[in-house]
Amino acid sequence: MQVYKWSDALKTNNIKIDQDHKLIIEKAQELSSAMADGKGQERVMEITNFLLSYVKKHFQEEEAMQMKSNYAGYEVHKKNHTYFVSELDQLAERIKKNPNSTVNVLELNKLISGWFFNHIQKLDVEVAKHLNKTNM
Ligand SMILES: [Fe+2]
Repeated sequence: MQVYKWSDALKTNNIKIDQDHKLIIEKAQELSSAMADGKGQERVMEITNFLLSYVKKHFQEEEAMQMKSNYAGYEVHKKNHTYFVSELDQLAERIKKNPNSTVNVLELNKLISGWFFNHIQKLDVEVAKHLNKTNM
């Protein structure tokens, strides 16, 4: 079932950030389907681990761009990223124990459709505006 889809509503207008977000959403979709379709623990964890490490890499890169461009909202933004990573880490632990749990599918949905989409539309859009102004 298609749960997550990238759309223009999620566009920040920073090419690098948008490309990363698209991939994160694709992977989250893959994970949601794998859990719901009863795929085995090994496959589910493979996708979970990819998603986790890609999100971490993306946040690090985004934070580095903010630092380099003296973005005023850097500290607040970084705190938001740290929160999300810790939630995702905890979910990954629960997924490992129970790769086909409906509760975990719903939990992932809260994090992606809820937190992540909201983060993109509220905070990342502001970062992109700033980066585009400073030509980064
Ligand atoms: Fe961000």
